[in-house]
Amino acid sequence: MRIRIFETPSEGGLYVATLMEQTVLRLDEPVLGLATGSTVLPCYASFVQISMYGLDMSQTSTLNLDEYVGLDSEHPHSYRYFMEENLFRRLPIRPKESYIPSGTADNLDEECRRYEDIISKNPIDLQILGIGVNGHIGFNEPNQSLLSTTHVVDLTEDTINNNEKFFRDTDNMPKRAITMGVQAILRSKQIVLMAFGESKKRAVVNSIEGTIRTEVPASILQLHNDVIWVLDKESASLLDLQMIKGVNV
Ligand code: F6R
Repeated sequence: MRIRIFETPSEGGLYVATLMEQTVLRLDEPVLGLATGSTVLPCYASFVQISMYGLDMSQTSTLNLDEYVGLDSEHPHSYRYFMEENLFRRLPIRPKESYIPSGTADNLDEECRRYEDIISKNPIDLQILGIGVNGHIGFNEPNQSLLSTTHVVDLTEDTINNNEKFFRDTDNMPKRAITMGVQAILRSKQIVLMAFGESKKRAVVNSIEGTIRTEVPASILQLHNDVIWVLDKESASLLDLQMIKGVNV
């Protein structure tokens, strides 16, 4: 595990954007695992700028972590829409494929199986993650199996409250999502988790210093051999960096 602490989310985001660029440049058929939410925005803004210098995404595939159940791709709050607006349509050369689970599939169980199959055929080289205030990764909420595959999840109160910032009409905010499971996240060759701000400090310290447990899904990342935590001073403020042995800060 490595931990990098930056002054601002923009600096952290730029660092992660360069990791994405290196992955795209290094591999013949790169696969990027992508997240949505406010944390990743500075990273995507930097990646768009970097790509303006001629980064060729035509051999790159992307796989997103999750999608709200009930929102189609045209819905301004769907994660497909988020990705188009904040990344894909801004790139001079779009990715070869950009996979996101469908939140409007007639049969959600079948959609989960279809997505799991896509993940198996496209092993993720670099997985970008944010973290929920409750320690979730993707929408793998606390107290669920840490061995999950793609599944439909009931969002917790914490997650709904955190994500309300994106919804004007909070009554109609979806309460369920399809999420990639923890198993697929752990199979990614490299994982970069970004967390910025006060509100994430407990999730960060519990995940890095606590025991591995279902109450804090991101704690399972302790078992992965190539994880970089990209933090700012606020999100890192509870960490006892002297105590974390073997961590390259
Ligand atoms: C989004 C996702 C979530 C978010 C997390 C943080 O695709 O999978 O795990 O990364 O909820 O959200 P923000 O960045 O909005 O605080």
